Amino acid sequence: MIRSVVRGSGSALPKRAVPNAEMALMVDTSDEWIVERTGIRNRHIAGEGETTATLAAEAATKALESAGLVPSDIGLIVLATATPDQTFPATATKVQDLIGCHGGIAFDVAAVCSGFLYALATADSMLRAGMAKRALVIGAETFSRILDWEDRTTCVLFGDGAGAIVLEAQDVAEDGPGVIFTQLHADGAHNELLYVDGGPSTTGTVGKLRMKGREVFRHAVTNLASVLETVLAETGFAVADIDWVVPHQANARILDATARKLGLEPGKVIVTVDRHANTSAASVPLAFDTAVRDGRIKPGDLVMFEAMGGGFTWGASLVRM
Ligand code: UT7
Repeated sequence: MIRSVVRGSGSALPKRAVPNAEMALMVDTSDEWIVERTGIRNRHIAGEGETTATLAAEAATKALESAGLVPSDIGLIVLATATPDQTFPATATKVQDLIGCHGGIAFDVAAVCSGFLYALATADSMLRAGMAKRALVIGAETFSRILDWEDRTTCVLFGDGAGAIVLEAQDVAEDGPGVIFTQLHADGAHNELLYVDGGPSTTGTVGKLRMKGREVFRHAVTNLASVLETVLAETGFAVADIDWVVPHQANARILDATARKLGLEPGKVIVTVDRHANTSAASVPLAFDTAVRDGRIKPGDLVMFEAMGGGFTWGASLVRM
């Protein structure tokens, strides 16, 4: 069967690291509060010259290097972001130009923190349909540029970064590598719990992020546990078969609560929220690349990606390395 196989991964972070102590100089917060409520200790914030496109291009270049491929091998770029460099053109086309990949297909998808799952499903479908042989799937964000830096309930939670994987359509055996199954959801009834209060067609401005954190938290645990159970039921795997869960990194307490609800060993959950904070669409591929490079995720492993974010949108994908 034709499956989309992960050939490589890469990630990128802005140069400037901002620990909690520095956040406490900007708003009325403390390292203790942030660590206890979220698990976050540090985030990276983009500086001059660092944008969603430059971070994405760096992550993409590293992913190509790890796959042993060159830009001309790529026929499709799907980039998930809620913080594009410009309203248009798509940031994916800027990345295409920055990495020197000419021709092929390139576009952005917007599903906020679930964006990487949506991008992965889109690229997987297009590869299996024969529209390209290899794809770069990227999650990249500069949320620092849409934060209200006077709102302590949101500004301490987010960071900037990018992650990328290379997918290749391959003819594999049923128990072979590749994307096995992806389940996506959206429910627009919850727009007002997590949104940006501006946009090209409403205010004509970029706007700032607004979130009712407690409500989002409650929905996140329920929706994530439910979609993970669906993916396992659809594929016939048990929780114990999963080698690694690579979740969206919003809050260490959400990761713990979801793992508990599913009966998943906490040691199987890749956690990078302490170092990167919530990087929205970038968080899943950033965490994945971190765990590949430190040797935890290896060929043959069964990996579950999962995410939940604004919209609401949520989803999970089961992938054999
Ligand atoms: O990526 C998309 C998905 N996003 C998420 O999954 C985020 C989900 N939500 C969360 O992670 C958590 O709800 C938060 C981390 C946002 C908040 O944690 P919480 O335990 O739900 O706190 P809370 O909002 O109930 O606030 C508790 C208290 C409040 O004070 P009072 O009203 O009890 O006096 C807040 O004003 O903590 C206060 N507070 C802070 N204190 C110090 C809120 N933010 C801060 C802060 N520093 N930064």
